[in-house]
Amino acid sequence: MKDVKKAETLEILDELEIKYLGRKGELTGLLKGLANVSKEERPKLGALANDVKQAGLELIEKRRNELASSRFEALADTERADMTEPGNRAPDGHLHLVTQAIREITTIFERIGFYRTRYPEIDWDWYAFESLNMPKEHPARDDWETFFMDALESDKKRKGKMVLTPHTSNAQGRELERGEFPVRMLNIGKCYRRQSDATHAPMFHQFEGLLVDEGINLSHLRGILDYFAEQFFGKGRVSRIRPHHFRFTEPSFEVDISCGVCGGEGKIDGKKCKVCKQGWLEIGGAGMVHPNVLTASGVDPKKYSGLAFGWGIERVAMMKEGTQLDDIRILYQNDVRFLKQF
Ligand code: PHE
Repeated sequence: MKDVKKAETLEILDELEIKYLGRKGELTGLLKGLANVSKEERPKLGALANDVKQAGLELIEKRRNELASSRFEALADTERADMTEPGNRAPDGHLHLVTQAIREITTIFERIGFYRTRYPEIDWDWYAFESLNMPKEHPARDDWETFFMDALESDKKRKGKMVLTPHTSNAQGRELERGEFPVRMLNIGKCYRRQSDATHAPMFHQFEGLLVDEGINLSHLRGILDYFAEQFFGKGRVSRIRPHHFRFTEPSFEVDISCGVCGGEGKIDGKKCKVCKQGWLEIGGAGMVHPNVLTASGVDPKKYSGLAFGWGIERVAMMKEGTQLDDIRILYQNDVRFLKQF
């Protein structure tokens, strides 16, 4: 039975067991042969044969245990589960570039006392236009007319139709009519315009600042603009204002931020700066709140004055990154390969 000791697998062992000890096996054959042996010899030989069978069974059982335990050992090596090993981590995503910018801008203005508001993105004509000194039929509305929705007759008399807000300035009247001063509103919301091309998305975000109190003047506006330039874009960045026209501010300005690449020079080593071409990057509109806007919301312009500004979030975010997008609409295509860069 040497081959039992050498058997390499459980299957071979099973075969050997049948061969030696099975019903048709060698030992059984031997026992059958006992019939031919004399009566005296028979018990002795019988007992011997049983001993042999018992020894054989034990040998096979021993080998079977050996083979089984080595198989488990091999399994433990290949299929081992270490419960103390750290698990697989699902890849973390991150906030969208626009959400990051919204949070940062909010924090910057909160530090100087502004509070964040959210007003409707579908609002009455009154808040989007009329209360902002843009009467019906005024051409200043043209660029900003989006989708109008019919309203109930009773509502229409009060505030006109409803419109997808083309800017966040609709928040001005809503905040002013609350009648709580000082107003230091930062309204952030989605805006909609009749435009869709490489530099314009039909839906985008703006942040609108409104500061109304007694004695607010242009120097407050200048201070806020420079503060924002440095906080958001970095040390050494400054702002400048150029005359412009909006119906709801007087005077009105276009605001520029000094270019971070050429430092406001417009030139690097005698060559035109590729990013800004003239030293400044345009960021958006601002001005001193028009007295008609205050009056329309029941605020006395002799007592109160204010400043307002409204800029695009996508625009300032890309300016900060120093990245010029071939097509701004890519921000909203949800392509992770693009978004994960920011
Ligand atoms: N609402 C103006 C726009 O969308 C920006 C603006 C806001 C200008 C507040 C002046 C004051 O272009």
